[in-house]
Amino acid sequence: MAAAMRKQLIEYIEANGGFEDSEKLCEEKGWDHETLVGAIKSLQSEEQITAEASKREGWKLTAEGEEYCRSGSPEVQVFDFVKAKGSVPSSELDAALGAMAKIGLGTCMKNKWVSIDKAKVCTCSVDSVTDTVRQELGSLSTLDKAKLDALKKRKLIAPTSLTAFKVEKTGKFSSGAQKAVADLTSEMISKGTWASTTFKPFNLTNAKGTVSEGGHLHPLNKVKTEMRQVLMQMGFEEMPTNQWVESSFWNFDALFQPQQHPARDAHDTFFMEAPSRAQNIPEDYLRRVKEMHEKGGQGSIGWRYDWSEDEAKKTLLRTHTTAVSARMLYKMGEEYRKTGVFQPKKYFSIDRVFRNETLDATHLAEFHQIEGFVADRNIGLPQLIGVLRDFFSRIGISKLRFKPAYNPYTEPSMEVFGFHPILKKWIEVGNSGVFRPEMLLPMGLPEDVTVIAWGIGCERWTALLYNIRMIKELFSFQQDVAATKKNPMCWLRRAED
Ligand code: PHE
Repeated sequence: MAAAMRKQLIEYIEANGGFEDSEKLCEEKGWDHETLVGAIKSLQSEEQITAEASKREGWKLTAEGEEYCRSGSPEVQVFDFVKAKGSVPSSELDAALGAMAKIGLGTCMKNKWVSIDKAKVCTCSVDSVTDTVRQELGSLSTLDKAKLDALKKRKLIAPTSLTAFKVEKTGKFSSGAQKAVADLTSEMISKGTWASTTFKPFNLTNAKGTVSEGGHLHPLNKVKTEMRQVLMQMGFEEMPTNQWVESSFWNFDALFQPQQHPARDAHDTFFMEAPSRAQNIPEDYLRRVKEMHEKGGQGSIGWRYDWSEDEAKKTLLRTHTTAVSARMLYKMGEEYRKTGVFQPKKYFSIDRVFRNETLDATHLAEFHQIEGFVADRNIGLPQLIGVLRDFFSRIGISKLRFKPAYNPYTEPSMEVFGFHPILKKWIEVGNSGVFRPEMLLPMGLPEDVTVIAWGIGCERWTALLYNIRMIKELFSFQQDVAATKKNPMCWLRRAED
């Protein structure tokens, strides 16, 4: 119907250039006004026509009004019936006309058209009558207010309001124009029909838009974003973390982690089946790492075993973001070897790591680490403690304790505990240390450069901040989507010292 109306409208505008009044046009053509308005709006949105609206109040027949218009008013129906019979008992009238009889007879008597005697027999008092009500219902537009009010009181008409349009074609009017479409579909792209399709222009001025039900930020994303912001405020730069598949070399060997180390076992690490071996490990560096593992150097005696290149090339899903740090430190070493200039740097990464864990309330097989390091000349434990205090106080923990720990690639190493102001207890918040010279020297960094580093788990923080007890609810198919929609935007607060 809409398409046919559009076509008729285009034809009319083509022939006449436009029209003064859409309501009149509908009366003339027998068109439905609402359908015409739809077609007008559509051409208007394509800027093919201008449409000037004028609102007007009017009247329309109720269902009862339409019925009287069709079959005559009840009083005339009663009069006609009585006239045809000569005289008739009111019971017969009731039987023949039903509800109409009661309404009609009352009016007939008031108008003195019909009289009724004691035996309830009706007789006509006049020869003929005119059905003014029916006439009036048929010509509402000519009636005065008193008459309209009387019809309204009898519930035969009801007020309406209508917006009529004055229409003129614009320079963009084209009788051959297809209906402009709102959306590009995949079919238009695959068939190439998009090229010949007319699209609706964007309505940026008065479109209301819709409130989106989806698209809420996941709590992990909020925390990652905030952590990133905190680290950038501290002058750290973000490292590229897009390599989830890593070689054992960068994940372990570059970190001076011996090949027999239990963490390198398939119980802790997801190894890849295909491709099973990595390529493009820098050859010189690989040789220097092998040498350090087997024999040591510059004061270290090494691990003293036969280092296997094949083992180092085994591919895996990186088990920590320290692999990312190792790649960056190697790059810094290369830069130094090339230029002879060492640039002190602060770097961080926030991304996903994978461990072959048994899943429980606090462990997942994949999670996110936040890791930072500072590389500079003559720094060590005091600077590490300083940077950790600064970082943790910015994310809400001002009281820290350090516990000696062991990492294959840091010496000394410290576990970091923080007093959680909401839980009101000490919790482990991270792991840290000073990278061993056996890791840094093969990379080609100057001997007096030390690198202090720390890593924390992102899920644990997020769970604490959002009061989530099971990490599975946060980061897995079991996550609580409803909670994600309700969570506040940010919760990290600077600790009050
Ligand atoms: N890589 C360590 C872990 O996965 C964290 C760490 C980073 C420790 C840097 C020391 C230095 O737990």
